[in-house]
Amino acid sequence: MTATARMRGLDTSLIRSFALDAPSANISLALGEPGWPLPLVARLALGDWAHRPGSCTYGPNAGLPELQAAVADRAGCRTDEVMLTAGSQAALYAVMTAHLDPGDVVAVPDPGFPAYRTVARLAGATAVAYPMGSAGTLDPAALAATLEQCGTGPGAVRMVVLNHPGNPTGAGASRAALEQVAELCERHAGLLLVSDEVYRELYLERPQPSLREVTHEGIVTESVSKAWSAPGLRVGWALGPPGLLSPARLVHNAMNTAPARPSQVAATALLRASDDVLPAARAELRARWQTVRDQGPAWLSSLGTPEGGFYLWAPVPAAAGASVGASGSGQAWARDLRDRGGVTVVPGSAFGPAGDGHVRLSVGGPLDELAEGLRRIAAFSQEAS
Ligand SMILES: Cc1ncc(COP(=O)(O)O)c(C=O)c1O
Repeated sequence: MTATARMRGLDTSLIRSFALDAPSANISLALGEPGWPLPLVARLALGDWAHRPGSCTYGPNAGLPELQAAVADRAGCRTDEVMLTAGSQAALYAVMTAHLDPGDVVAVPDPGFPAYRTVARLAGATAVAYPMGSAGTLDPAALAATLEQCGTGPGAVRMVVLNHPGNPTGAGASRAALEQVAELCERHAGLLLVSDEVYRELYLERPQPSLREVTHEGIVTESVSKAWSAPGLRVGWALGPPGLLSPARLVHNAMNTAPARPSQVAATALLRASDDVLPAARAELRARWQTVRDQGPAWLSSLGTPEGGFYLWAPVPAAAGASVGASGSGQAWARDLRDRGGVTVVPGSAFGPAGDGHVRLSVGGPLDELAEGLRRIAAFSQEAS
């Protein structure tokens, strides 16, 4: 694939561009990041590090041994099964770049996080969408059908990306579904399974299973960005067999050398304090979903809560002038809401064709902004009906 072909269509994501064009007085329910403070333990670690005399050296290419150990302890694995990266997205980039050949096919969820397609394309690969089950859950039969359609010759799927709880739906994957998918991928020689689990610890009621509970053959990516409330630290990691991580580590070293040193110090403190930090983050999250139930218009509050994460995935109201799910209706409604209703959300089509007719609202931001955003949406949808 030529550089021009790889770059074609690689514009600012619709998530970001939609937000960039918003009127400045808008409430933004667009970006997926926690609106509660960075946990104290991380702030103290950063302050302590800043006041310690000494140099700010690069540190080892593999990252700080204490962070590697903290990740490995949580995952119950060896440190050579951990690759530290600048956020989980860099882990995904490194893994795809190291393991995909030009023209390879990567199966990605639809609707799904748009970076999967972007990063696959940068690796010279092509993304093929696989459909999700009801309400966005992982559906092994639908994935199997996609693998079958792609066949076993040229054009066969080389990598499958899972995401649970998923962005944008918040839907999870049952342990049984993960088992079936792991077996399915084992039957396809040379197929690599990558499971993006950045929202797994940010569950609402039930802990969510990891791919690592059913197999150690695939690669799992995680970060401190969501459940540990620290997206700005840009610290993530991949867990997997050392033989798969070693080439990816070289890609990451070539790009970044290693994650920023102060960030690694703060991330170590966060991970070591997980027993306090994670329940506090889940409590913040629950308060936000309660606000949606208490203060959202009925068409939003009746949608129920997802397994995890802070996304409300909503079909646009039929009153938006188009039937629910009609092509383009999500984007038109979201643009209208942004330009006339004072709230920025993300059109569902940003997440793939199956997202059309939907919008994604992030409820993760500050509570007062969420309440005001919901009030504005209620007024806007009443006006539009
Ligand atoms: C599903 C999913 N995966 C990965 C990422 C990237 O997160 P980070 O690079 O901060 O770990 C995001 C960010 O929004 C996401 O929603």
